[in-house]
Amino acid sequence: MRKILHFEELDSTNSYLKMHYAQLASGTVVRADRQTAGRGRYDRIWVSRNGGLYFSVLLKTEFSLYAANLTQLMALSVCRALEQYHVPARLKWPNDVLVERKKICGILSEGVLEKNVLKAVVVGVGINVEQEGLTAVGQPATSLKECGVHADKTALLGQVLDLFEPRVQDVCKKGFSILREEYKARFEALGQTVKVKDGENTICGIARDVSPDGTLLVQTGKELKEIYIGDVTHE
Ligand code: BTN
Repeated sequence: MRKILHFEELDSTNSYLKMHYAQLASGTVVRADRQTAGRGRYDRIWVSRNGGLYFSVLLKTEFSLYAANLTQLMALSVCRALEQYHVPARLKWPNDVLVERKKICGILSEGVLEKNVLKAVVVGVGINVEQEGLTAVGQPATSLKECGVHADKTALLGQVLDLFEPRVQDVCKKGFSILREEYKARFEALGQTVKVKDGENTICGIARDVSPDGTLLVQTGKELKEIYIGDVTHE
């Protein structure tokens, strides 16, 4: 039985699970109608007014090398759920979901460490559902409403989890390779010029592939660079 804790307001569903993970079972989902301190990647603020779907999933399975690939599994699950509404959703490496190059979903995964041992992973998801006139930091944003789709947030959450949960164990055991073909089929930037920024470093090149490990392979001149983390923009 799926356990979903639903709050009207939280600071952040990720923060809630990180605070309470010890008392909660693996698989617990926390959802909030709004967040007062929603967080995004690179310490950005995730504006979380009413109208969006904000939730986080707690995973306490035996962790492996592949914990990071759970974020990509979630991105793929959101993408496939949006396809059920006939929305042409695409993936921006590593884990944003776009529609017509506008961001519709962001995902923030965080590890919970105790004495340097990974105890749990929290996968937090924000999907723009009913909002209008959004602007994501650094890039345009859209919502299901702006795509002409009226989705029930509870139903959408169930659809995403139905696609995500059954594959968690498999991804933990086998890694990204089991997702690779589905991921690449939805990967927006394949063959295009991209800029990848990680802190002070920026790499510009052509996105050639996503490796069996889930890393991005960018061609700069004759060199193929493997990117482990970064913020991708299309030229
Ligand atoms: C990003 O694109 O930068 C990631 C955004 C992740 C936002 C979600 S909303 C639910 C969960 N709680 C948070 O504070 N953040 C994530």
